[in-house]
Amino acid sequence: MSDFAELILEGKSYKLPIVVGTEDEKAIDISSLRAESGFITLDSGYKNTGATTSAITYLDGEEGILSYRGYPIEELAEKSSFIEVSYLLIYGSLPTAAELDAFSKRIKRHMLVNEDMRKILDGFPSAAHPMGILSALVSSLTAFYPESLKSNQTKDEMDLSMIRLMAKLSTIAAWSFKNSNGQRINYPKNKLDYCSNFLHMMFSDPTEDYEVNPVVVDALNKLLILHADHEQNCSTSTVRLVGSAHASLYSSVSAGISALWGPLHGGANQAVIEMLEQIKADGGDSKKFIAKAKDKNDPFRLMGFGHRVYKNFDPRAKIIKKTADDVLSALGIKDPILNIAKELEQAALTDPYFIERKLYPNVDFYSGIIYRALGIPTEMFTVMFALGRLPGWIAQWKEMREQKEPIGRPRQIYVGENTRKYVPIEER
Ligand code: ACO
Repeated sequence: MSDFAELILEGKSYKLPIVVGTEDEKAIDISSLRAESGFITLDSGYKNTGATTSAITYLDGEEGILSYRGYPIEELAEKSSFIEVSYLLIYGSLPTAAELDAFSKRIKRHMLVNEDMRKILDGFPSAAHPMGILSALVSSLTAFYPESLKSNQTKDEMDLSMIRLMAKLSTIAAWSFKNSNGQRINYPKNKLDYCSNFLHMMFSDPTEDYEVNPVVVDALNKLLILHADHEQNCSTSTVRLVGSAHASLYSSVSAGISALWGPLHGGANQAVIEMLEQIKADGGDSKKFIAKAKDKNDPFRLMGFGHRVYKNFDPRAKIIKKTADDVLSALGIKDPILNIAKELEQAALTDPYFIERKLYPNVDFYSGIIYRALGIPTEMFTVMFALGRLPGWIAQWKEMREQKEPIGRPRQIYVGENTRKYVPIEER
């Protein structure tokens, strides 16, 4: 294969380097095109634009493949823990037992959140969406750790910011839940592992400690692992873009949390449950809602279906569907919306509209059903996604800084008015 592409514009030929990834993915490097030809490339929604080279996550949407640092997601979900996967994503290799122990202890040591942050929490009304609280409190961490604002942080300082965020996000996430139900917050307990600690902070109350159920801990580990990274998606690109201006890790991740909140992205897990509830309340006729989703005059979309990059199946959805079955049967829960979800999936997978457009259930389709079974309220679902995605955001932010990437700044094609003369207000 030639190591350059040839582009002919207005009769002139330009040679553009070809970049090939380790999985043989190919790209044309157009970074010099504008300077040489005056042309930019236009790609609304970045459907075909690579923004970086990255060694963190590989995914092949056509084949339904996803791996973190070379390890298939199926194996990680089966054999690993969320903290181990976080180490893998952030530092690039699986930890030894001693490294994992040290990493886990460092996270535990930083789980307490400055008591002054509770005053900020207290300012939120109880109806505040927990994602808004999460984003605001993560951004507020810059005020408590102003050294994080230094754009020339040493490796150790950067590392400390990353550990602090890994530790404190679960505490803040549990706070955001306690704010909505008006209960006293719980402090973390160092004797507990990461997932058990989070469940304790969510569900213990002054009258009794949360009894940790291994089925629930196992399901939570799986869910967090499956969400831990997904290369250059909307929120991760946001984190990298904000970070490229040398904004702090906390501000960058806070922006990522806001991007994740949107219903077309991580907010879809909440939207799926709301949709399934709506179908149930309407009599449970899934066919009617499939028809609505196909009707171009109807704004209704099948939430949890379709994906920008998966055009075969989402490998995470397969694991989550099985986990949903396992968790519900282990906990002895019969959730009628699980049946509606399965009917909807079956109907959609046999319908030409969905087949032609390659629309399959995505990671969000079944995750909400598991969260519900674990006792997590609907408004907290996207917070759970953020908790899972955090090591990915951190790893991507770190990689962007270590690769010394330039500030992100897309171009545009202007289609507005040509220069015109200002008209004084009395003459308009
Ligand atoms: N229901 C009905 N039709 C759909 C759906 C859906 N969920 N998703 C896509 N389509 C249709 C579109 O109308 C379009 O049809 P057309 O070609 O006739 O115009 C075609 O399928 C392609 O869809 P696009 O919107 O162009 O695909 P895009 O890649 O831009 O969007 C997205 C992907 C946002 C995920 C979309 O599929 C969607 O809105 N899904 C529902 C929301 C959702 O589940 N989001 C979570 C994604 S996973 C995540 O972010 C963690």
